[in-house]
Amino acid sequence: MSLSDAQAASLSAETVVVAAGRPPRERDQPVNPPLVLSSTYYGTGPLGDGDRGYGRYSNPTWDPFEEALAQLEGAELPGLLYASGLAAVSSALSLVPAGGVLVMPSHSYAGSLVMATELAAKGFLELRTVDIADTDAVLAQLAPADGRPASMLWLESPTNPMLGVADIRALTTAAHAAGAVVVTDNTFSTPLVQQPLALGSDVVLHSVTKYLSGHSDVVLGALVTSDAGLRAALLHQRTIHGGIAGPFEAWLALRGLRTLALRVERSQASAAVLAGRLSTHRRVGSIRFPGLPSDPGHERARSQMKGFGSVLCIEMAPIASGDGGHEGGLSGADAADKMIRALKLWLPATSLGGVESLIERRRRHTAEPASVPDNLVRMSVGIENVEDLWADLEQALAGLDG
Ligand SMILES: Cc1ncc(COP(=O)(O)O)c(C=O)c1O
Repeated sequence: MSLSDAQAASLSAETVVVAAGRPPRERDQPVNPPLVLSSTYYGTGPLGDGDRGYGRYSNPTWDPFEEALAQLEGAELPGLLYASGLAAVSSALSLVPAGGVLVMPSHSYAGSLVMATELAAKGFLELRTVDIADTDAVLAQLAPADGRPASMLWLESPTNPMLGVADIRALTTAAHAAGAVVVTDNTFSTPLVQQPLALGSDVVLHSVTKYLSGHSDVVLGALVTSDAGLRAALLHQRTIHGGIAGPFEAWLALRGLRTLALRVERSQASAAVLAGRLSTHRRVGSIRFPGLPSDPGHERARSQMKGFGSVLCIEMAPIASGDGGHEGGLSGADAADKMIRALKLWLPATSLGGVESLIERRRRHTAEPASVPDNLVRMSVGIENVEDLWADLEQALAGLDG
């Protein structure tokens, strides 16, 4: 590849997203990696055994993305692409030994929680859920005086959708002392905003579906680690369980990665503006965004992130009877649904991290834990003009006034 690890380490991430994962600088080589559609490779008889073998073991279209992501996360080994973020979650959870203890945020992404809960129900592991922002509570579960120590600490920071911020350095240190492997879901931050390996994590996870590919047209996941033993175990799991990436998706993901720095810069700036304005709107009961100085996770986020991401959550205030002509009033959840229906630019759809701004009331998903308030609206800020985004929100909120 054209960018060595040493070069990547000396360049800024804004440059690495553009320069990494390109073919060698040789006469007549393409400047972009080709899309390789083949389920098998020559490699028997007189042609030798070959390294690639079969399309479930490897694909040349995965390599540039896996290399670029590793360089961005500061890993010493190539990353591993998967069919989806949850396929990557499944692979990472396979590192927990039979009957081992998994400590996980009670507000992890709902799919990760469902998977861990089902594994625990089958007796494959013991699950301890914790408030990840409460460091003492997590420490107590990692190595309880009267219980078994954890085999794995799962971190997601900020969490989806509650935006709780974990003290990654302190928790990884304690987890390692207890003998646990630490996996950090870095989907919300991207390596441009937070580098969990540098903060002590052993494995970093991404739903590549989100910011890394960035255009809401791909479903993919990835894991990254500098530990050769862990990588070998993960690669084996991927090969045997078969949760591999389609080559076209991998190719699209690298194409999306090229603009990651611009997209993150714009969407983070817009999220900060919108959070500030929403925080004083009378229809907004409360707001969660680590970029606001009033947010409980603000100082911790400042100490371990290079920004605050571009997802924010509001809890809609209930509307009293008669206010805005609402006979009998409206619950916060109903006010949220009414506001979302009135939007013309924001897209009422799940997911996050795309160029377009997405909005949804999270509890419309039955898998979302009941501890997520039913009036909580998650907003993924895209790259549109921030004043257009604000005007749309303002008119939809004004619609609640009757
Ligand atoms: C934080 C986080 N991790 C993992 C996933 C799962 O990723 P995927 O939908 O690509 O399987 C998601 C999906 O929303 C997510 O938000």
